[in-house]
Amino acid sequence: MTAPDPASARPRRTAILGQGYVGLPLAIRAADAGHRVVGFDTDDTRVKRLWAAQSPSPDIADSQVAAALTNGTYTPTANGDDLAGFDVAVIAVPTPLRDGAPDLSAIEHAARLLAPHLRPGCTVVLESTTYPGTTEDLLQPLLESVSGLTAGTDFHLGYSPERIDPGNRTWTLQNTPKIVAGIDEPSLKTISTFYRDLVDTVVEVPSVRDAELAKLLENTFRQVNIALVNEIALHARHLGADIWSALDAAATKPFGYIRFSPGPGVGGHCLPIDPIYLSWQVRQRSGSALRLVEAADQINASMPAHVVRRVTEALNNRGLPVNGARILLLGLAYKADTGDTRHAPALTIAQLLSALGAQMQIADPHVDGILDIAPHTRLAHVTATNLAAADAVVLLTDHSAFDHQLIERHAPYVLDCRARLYGPNIERL
Ligand SMILES: NC(=O)c1ccc[n+]([C@@H]2O[C@H](COP(=O)([O-])OP(=O)(O)OC[C@H]3O[C@@H](n4cnc5c(N)ncnc54)[C@H](O)[C@@H]3O)[C@@H](O)[C@H]2O)c1
Repeated sequence: MTAPDPASARPRRTAILGQGYVGLPLAIRAADAGHRVVGFDTDDTRVKRLWAAQSPSPDIADSQVAAALTNGTYTPTANGDDLAGFDVAVIAVPTPLRDGAPDLSAIEHAARLLAPHLRPGCTVVLESTTYPGTTEDLLQPLLESVSGLTAGTDFHLGYSPERIDPGNRTWTLQNTPKIVAGIDEPSLKTISTFYRDLVDTVVEVPSVRDAELAKLLENTFRQVNIALVNEIALHARHLGADIWSALDAAATKPFGYIRFSPGPGVGGHCLPIDPIYLSWQVRQRSGSALRLVEAADQINASMPAHVVRRVTEALNNRGLPVNGARILLLGLAYKADTGDTRHAPALTIAQLLSALGAQMQIADPHVDGILDIAPHTRLAHVTATNLAAADAVVLLTDHSAFDHQLIERHAPYVLDCRARLYGPNIERL
C-alpha cells in the first residue's frame, strides 16, 4: 500500500507527546488552528495541572489552555490509549544526557506508546533535539517493528526541529521559520502541509539527517560564540580593557559580526546539552573530537567557578571571608523572565558558595516552591533591607522585575554578571 496523497486532507486529529516548553505551545497552536489535539504526557501531575488550566510554559497563558479545554479542541492525558486514532503525532519529549552521553530513552518510550496506534496514512514527526540518524535509525525501526507497518509505504515519517525560545515575545512558534524534513518526498509534503497550518513559514530540507544536524548546528554556534566572549571576558581586565565597552564598540560593525554577551554560564535544555550530542556522535562515528565544541563546553562550564572567584576576591578586598558571608544571588533561572532552572549556572554558584560556608539568599520572582539547592540557602525577596544586609549581591539573571535603582542604591557591593547596573559599588563580570 502507498501512503495517501500528502496534501489530500488536512489532518484534524493531532497527538503531541510531551507537554513541556516545546509540546504545549504546539498543542495549543494546533488547537487554535482547529485540530482536535491530544496532549499526552507521562507526568500525571503536569496533566492534572493542565486540566486545571495551569500552563507550565511562559509562552502559553493559563487562559489559552482554559479556552482550548472549554471548546473541546485540547485534551491533556497521561493515558496512552487516548493516542488512538491520530492523523499526525508529534514527539516533543526530553533528550537529556546520561553520564555525558545522549539519553534517547524518552523518544524510545514515546515510540513504543505510539506504535500500536499507527494506521495506514498517518504521520509521525520527531521534534526533539537529537543527533543525525535518530529518526531513521532509532525511531523508524521501533515504529515499524511494533506496528508491523512500513514507513514511507504505510505511514509518513519525518523530523522538524523546534526553535522555540521560551519567553521571547518577538520570535514565536508562529513567526519563526520552521524546518521540516521527511524520509521521502510524500512524507516531506505531508509534514509541510501540517506545519503550514500552524506557522507562517515552512522551510523544506531535503534530508532528515540534514534537518537533525541543522538544529545542533544552531545551538552549537551559540555555545561556541558565548564561550568566545566568556573566555575574552576572563582576560579583558588583565589587558586593562573593559569587555562590555569593547563588545558595544564591536557591535557597531554592520556586517561580519554578531553580538554575544558573557555571563555566569549557560543553562537550559539546549546549550549545555545539544553540542554534546553533536560531539558525542562525531566521536562515535569518526573517533575524532570536535575540538572547538568541546573547548566551548569546558569554558562555559567553568564560568560559575569564575563568578565564585570574583565574589571571593571582592569579599577579601574588604577583609571578609566567604565563610559566614551573607550573599544575595539575584536570579536562579538560567534565562531572563522565565522560571526555567534546568542546568542553571546559579545552582552551581549557590552550591560552590555554600560549600565555602556562605549564608545564601536567592531572589527569583519566577521560581516558587521549596528549593533544596544547598545547605544555608533560602529564598528571599529583593528589598532594601535584604540588599543592605548582604556582604555581596550577585546579579545572575536579567529579570525585568529586578529594580535596578533599588539594587544600586542599597547593596554595598554587587557583582553584575549582566552589565545592567551602574555605580561605585558595582563591579562587572
Ligand atoms: N525548551 C526549549 O527551549 C527547547 C527549544 C527547542 C528544542 N527543545 C527540545 O525539545 C525537546 C523537549 O524539550 P522541552 O523543553 O519541551 O522539555 P520539557 O521538559 O519542558 O517537556 C518535556 C515533557 O515531556 C514529558 N515526557 C517525558 N517522557 C515522555 C514520554 N515518553 N512520553 C510523553 N511525554 C514524556 C515530560 O514529562 C515533560 O512534561 C528536547 O529534545 C529539547 O532539547 C527545547
